[in-house]
Amino acid sequence: MEKDIAHIRDTAHRAIRETSNLEELEKIRIEFLGRKGALPLLLRTVKDLPEDERRHVGAEANRLREDLERALSLRHNELKKTEHEHILTNEWLDVTRPGTRHEKGHLHPVTTMLAEIERIFHSMGFETADGPEVETDFYNFEALNIPAGHPARDMWDTFWLKPIPDKIGVKPLLLRAHTSPVQIRYMQKHNPPIRIIVPGRVYRYEPTDASHEIQFHQIEGLMVDTNISVANFKAIMEMFFSRFYGKKVTIQLRPSYFPFTEPSFEIFISCVICGGKGCSVCKHTGWLELGGAGMVHPGVFKAVGYNPQDVRGFAFGLGFSRMIMMKHKIPDVRLFNAGDVRFLKQF
Ligand code: PHE
Repeated sequence: MEKDIAHIRDTAHRAIRETSNLEELEKIRIEFLGRKGALPLLLRTVKDLPEDERRHVGAEANRLREDLERALSLRHNELKKTEHEHILTNEWLDVTRPGTRHEKGHLHPVTTMLAEIERIFHSMGFETADGPEVETDFYNFEALNIPAGHPARDMWDTFWLKPIPDKIGVKPLLLRAHTSPVQIRYMQKHNPPIRIIVPGRVYRYEPTDASHEIQFHQIEGLMVDTNISVANFKAIMEMFFSRFYGKKVTIQLRPSYFPFTEPSFEIFISCVICGGKGCSVCKHTGWLELGGAGMVHPGVFKAVGYNPQDVRGFAFGLGFSRMIMMKHKIPDVRLFNAGDVRFLKQF
């Protein structure tokens, strides 16, 4: 019996000394002191011993229990301390490190550029007007001096909407091919003097490539008063482009044709990339084409109920998407609508 007690003492102490974690220490406690542990099992046999031996062994066993309990608790504290130190050295937290910033959304480059363009025009006395993107034949064509069957209709590859079946005689609607219909809508409701810009989405039924998209942005402009001339138009364009591109820009007006203006021009600006010397963006011409313009045709004034004898005005339509492409050297219009965050994040 005494040998058994000595054996338990030795093995238990060794186990306690050798363990290096708390979990194992608990297992050792159960193994020796638990309800079915070595020491309680031994104590259960004590009652069968003769009287004097019983007292002796019992006292011995109880001492061992106390002894082991103390050893367990000392080791427990030691292990607890090293575990804590381990956590402190390995799982430290640098509270001075800057946090990770959650990304917020931001405005689309078209929206930011538009705000800038509006600011410049507003400072020159222009107001912003708008109109619907789903238009009637009347506003997109007829009132702009382009009657049905006019060959100039081919200049705008138009998306026509499916006619409503029961409504016989109702002309099909279309997606506006330019922002010019808003000239008509505005003049129907207002009398001169007029100074407006109309930024907006337009649609063309065309194959897409790096410089063509079925949906893009234009900025229409309209100024009407009693004695407006091409000189006014040129001055305003020069002022606008120089401010938008932040450098002196020269304007060139080349003869063109639009049914709703006479005379009509194509608007060219000196290349903002090379300054006119010639580069790949301006195809080595030194000039960039940015839209169409002209003096408002008398037929248009008649269509809105003005007397063409009394008023003069100019109108222009700028390729807004192209203007942004030139400003930020964007090589492909399709990027604007592609929803690619890698592109959008740069603005
Ligand atoms: N609406 C024309 C186009 O889309 C541009 C333009 C606007 C021309 C106003 C003259 C006057 O091509």
